[in-house]
Amino acid sequence: MQLNKKFGLIRKGDTVLDVGCAPGGWMQVAREIVGESGYVLGVDLQNIPPFEESNVEALQADITRNDILTTIKERKEVFDVVISDISPNISGIWDVDHFRSVELSEKALGLAVELLRSRGNFLVKVFQGEGTQDFFAKVKAHFSYTKVSSPEASRKSSAEVYIIGKHFV
Ligand SMILES: C[S@@+](CC[C@H](N)C(=O)[O-])C[C@H]1O[C@@H](n2cnc3c(N)ncnc32)[C@H](O)[C@@H]1O
Repeated sequence: MQLNKKFGLIRKGDTVLDVGCAPGGWMQVAREIVGESGYVLGVDLQNIPPFEESNVEALQADITRNDILTTIKERKEVFDVVISDISPNISGIWDVDHFRSVELSEKALGLAVELLRSRGNFLVKVFQGEGTQDFFAKVKAHFSYTKVSSPEASRKSSAEVYIIGKHFV
């Protein structure tokens, strides 16, 4: 919500893809913003019980699978916004977790590149580390405005950063 206030990523009526969405916190926030005229689709390895609202759906799927694009496109071909809070199983070894987080975030970027409309927006949370700059460069290649942000709502000691890409080109 804070990031959205600051960067205006999601708007009323938007279609939003939420990558790594369980248990559904970001989906709820996205639904509040898009309202009744928008649509929110979440994807996660975990099952999420159906939502009351008809314009919010969750798919239980692995985003690293080759058929993921087809599965998503069966629901919606094009999205205004892709958000990702995808996170690996934590091993406790920071470098390992960081690189897995970057790997998954690259998959989320790949989905964004395939599914976003022109000038669409992207937000991804990634564990900070050695690979962050390279990943940021990959995001930069696809968006006309990019930013790395640490919102106030995240813990001070948190080593997660939010990468924002606006205006997909
Ligand atoms: C931090 S949680 C997301 C929390 C969510 N944003 C919320 O507000 O409720 C990260 C999620 O990424 C999912 N995940 C990890 N690897 C995945 C994969 N390969 N495909 C789909 N989801 C994955 C995990 O199952 C987990 O639910």
